[in-house]
Amino acid sequence: MKRFYYSKFMLLMICVSLFHNCKNKSTESQKIETKADKVAYSEEELYRPNFHFTPKKAWMNDPNGMFYYNGYYHLYFQYYPDGNVWGPMHWGHAVSSDMVTWKEMPIAIYPDEKGYIFSGSAVVDVNNTSGFGKGGGEPIIAMFTYHDMDGEKSGKTDYQSQAIAYSLDEGQTFTKYSENPVIKNPGMKDFRDPKIVWDSIHEKWLMVLAAGQKIMFYSSSNLKDWKLESDFGNGIGAHGGVWECPDFFPMAVQGTDEVKWVLFVSINPGGPNGGSATQYFVGDFDGKQFSIDPSFENDLNNSEHKSIWIDYGRDNYAGVTWANIPDTDGRKLFLGWMSNWNYAQEVPTETWRSAMTIARAVELQKIDSSYRLLFQPVKEIASYRSTKFKEDSIIVNGNTKLIDSKLMDLSSTEINFKISDLEDSGFTFSLTNKFGDSLAFGYNTNDKNFFVDRRQSGKTGFSEKFADRVSLAKRTSDNPDFSGTIIIDKTSIELFFDDGETVMTEIFFPNTPFDKLSIEPKKKEFFLDHIEIHKLNFN
Ligand code: FRU
Repeated sequence: MKRFYYSKFMLLMICVSLFHNCKNKSTESQKIETKADKVAYSEEELYRPNFHFTPKKAWMNDPNGMFYYNGYYHLYFQYYPDGNVWGPMHWGHAVSSDMVTWKEMPIAIYPDEKGYIFSGSAVVDVNNTSGFGKGGGEPIIAMFTYHDMDGEKSGKTDYQSQAIAYSLDEGQTFTKYSENPVIKNPGMKDFRDPKIVWDSIHEKWLMVLAAGQKIMFYSSSNLKDWKLESDFGNGIGAHGGVWECPDFFPMAVQGTDEVKWVLFVSINPGGPNGGSATQYFVGDFDGKQFSIDPSFENDLNNSEHKSIWIDYGRDNYAGVTWANIPDTDGRKLFLGWMSNWNYAQEVPTETWRSAMTIARAVELQKIDSSYRLLFQPVKEIASYRSTKFKEDSIIVNGNTKLIDSKLMDLSSTEINFKISDLEDSGFTFSLTNKFGDSLAFGYNTNDKNFFVDRRQSGKTGFSEKFADRVSLAKRTSDNPDFSGTIIIDKTSIELFFDDGETVMTEIFFPNTPFDKLSIEPKKKEFFLDHIEIHKLNFN
């Protein structure tokens, strides 16, 4: 029976993976598919990322419902298929076998008379606690917020409620539960974005929900009946905007048996460099109540923005982690929406709008007496490495060209570097092109800030808020050496400094692709111990 449920999906997946593995062998059907993609992409060739996920057409925002099953990472997303700005929300769908290259699938959940389908999550109900599985199959349960637009327009306050839907074909199609909503609105305007996790410590389903300026914690044994346990957030963390898209999960502190609970809370506006951003909290959970770790709370109070952020760049929002990653893998895997509500609907792309970040592996480390999350691009990216440029021991005492497009196309690149002897200086990397556009990023010793400066990066005038400032992130590590990983696509940069302790993600729209990368000191010379630049090949 189980085979019966899954057979159609598996067939489709086998076709997808055959296509992926046999790209160079030409058969009629492969040619047609490639051609169709090129036609759809041609208008936007300049700004369509080479590998970050974008929908073929139309508007996208938050990632939703991410789970892993049977060899595939599923990614759903807030999607309005009929326009290039936000509109009636659907759940679009994409799948990947490695979280790096994605195949867009048909829309998974459509809005209906109860409302738009807002953000939410999905889990694999391995023990069929919901009873939706038939004949031994493992159902996938999605939980989302219904947003009743008519209700909102007519001045009601209870227009958001929580609902579920189940899939018996590995997440390809969903059936909405007949008894929806499963959680009614208690009279709060902002009451949304349910994220479910299986709590193996207390053996129950947990769900976190953003409710105004708080997170509400619920529990359930069957994913249908939910009990409110507690809330969190009063007077803690950043409150410059509405709280949205939480995530909550236990994590072992790296190299120990200590388990802590991590809570993500997206906030818009109120991010450290303007607009949307995601803060996190580390603490303990007794099965009912989350309490922040005192040393972490102390760090928050001493931090510049009363919070600690998973990313200090302006383009990583509403990110959450994948469900059902096998124990044999054991990683916590994350992905976010690579834009910002400050300007997302105005960026200079027409047929499609917005991309997702690269998927990232998250680790929890004990640093001094407190805790920090470390983010790194998933290791799967390494299998796309092709041409490599490598240099060791360069003394940088002026503007030094590292690479240009004669040597390597810079629009899909992974860079790893290590710098020492920085002393009273700082370093600036610059991506430039023949139009004089430049994107600068690096570190300034004077104020101990990492920075990204996109003020001269090309098209910036579509929104006043896009290039109004240099984005800054205070360095927290006291390592005398600086190391980092940089992921560059045509219109984005993702910076993972100090092993991912400080992350910055930003998008940009140059008039023509950047074709030169150079590095220079802020003041005094320094030592570039090592740099490795890998071209990533997606052909
Ligand atoms: C976050 C968000 C969510 C909401 C969704 C609507 O970007 O505002 O809170 O569910 O977008 O598309």
